[in-house]
Amino acid sequence: MVRWRACFQALLTVGLCACPIGFANVLPAAAAEMPSTYVGSKVCMGCHPKEYDSFSKYSKKAHSSQSIKIMAPKLSPEELTGCFACHTTGYGKPGGFVSFEKTPELADAGCEVCHGPGSDHADAGGDPNLIQSKLAMAQCESCHNADRVRTFNFKPMLFAGAH
Ligand code: HEC
Ligand code: HEC
Ligand code: HEC
Ligand code: HEC
Repeated sequence: MVRWRACFQALLTVGLCACPIGFANVLPAAAAEMPSTYVGSKVCMGCHPKEYDSFSKYSKKAHSSQSIKIMAPKLSPEELTGCFACHTTGYGKPGGFVSFEKTPELADAGCEVCHGPGSDHADAGGDPNLIQSKLAMAQCESCHNADRVRTFNFKPMLFAGAH
């Protein structure tokens, strides 16, 4: 970005671009780096009613904000914030959960905790190249980590708990 601005200034003043990469390459590259953001499971519902229906009925994730709300009165604000990374969608990431008031659509751990942020996929009418569908256990482990597996004596299967 800094190089781009410097380059632009150089172009204005000298009429010459000294960028090592070609001018034409700069803009598309910057646009492609704009990350997809979180939209919430209800947006997915519009085009994937079957997955949404079974997710809402059978997955505990669909109600994971309840688990922390129930315990909230016994927690300090800092402790409550510590729950968000796993019990909500995209906390601390671009376009992710901020608070129950500001981002109610991301309050539960929704479709996008597994499939990744879905705005690009949704905006493109469901382009399959813009959403993750091949998942690995490593992606579950940020939340289902070793400590928790030991505590609950329970290791999830890749396809379980979703749809
Ligand atoms: C962002 C954190 C997060 C990620 C990533 C995540 N999970 Fe979960 N998962 C949870 C939470 C939180 C619960 C418990 C919800 C509750 O009961 O409040 C849960 C519950 C479950 C359960 C319990 C059974 C049920 O009915 O839901 C299974 C099975 C499960 N997850 C599987 C997986 C698998 C497989 C992956 C990876 C493909 C995965 N999870 C990724 C947070 C996550
Ligand atoms: C590192 C991720 C992570 C963090 C942080 C986390 N949880 Fe969880 N929580 C889970 C997962 C995953 C499960 C599902 C059980 C399992 O597989 O371990 C779960 C299950 C639960 C359950 C049980 C729900 C049920 O149906 O039995 C409650 C209640 C809960 N969490 C509350 C909290 C609270 C309150 C906090 C913050 C103080 C918190 N969790 C922080 C990942 C997390
Ligand atoms: C716990 C992780 C997890 C969650 C949460 C989850 N999925 Fe999936 N999803 C998967 C896995 C694993 C696959 C299978 C990928 C494969 O076949 O390799 C999959 C496949 C899919 C597919 C491809 C068609 C199919 O059924 O195989 C669609 C569409 C889909 N999910 C939509 C959704 C929607 C919509 C939600 C929310 C309502 C959701 N998913 C929530 C893990 C998850
Ligand atoms: C505007 C409609 C639309 C919305 C909104 C939408 N999808 Fe899709 N999605 C599709 C269509 C259509 C396909 C099938 C593409 C194909 O097979 O060619 C698809 C395919 C998928 C797949 C499978 C991709 C593959 O490799 O086969 C997954 C996973 C998925 N969607 C998840 C989601 C999730 C998660 C959300 C919400 C964040 C979502 N979708 C929102 C239309 C949508």
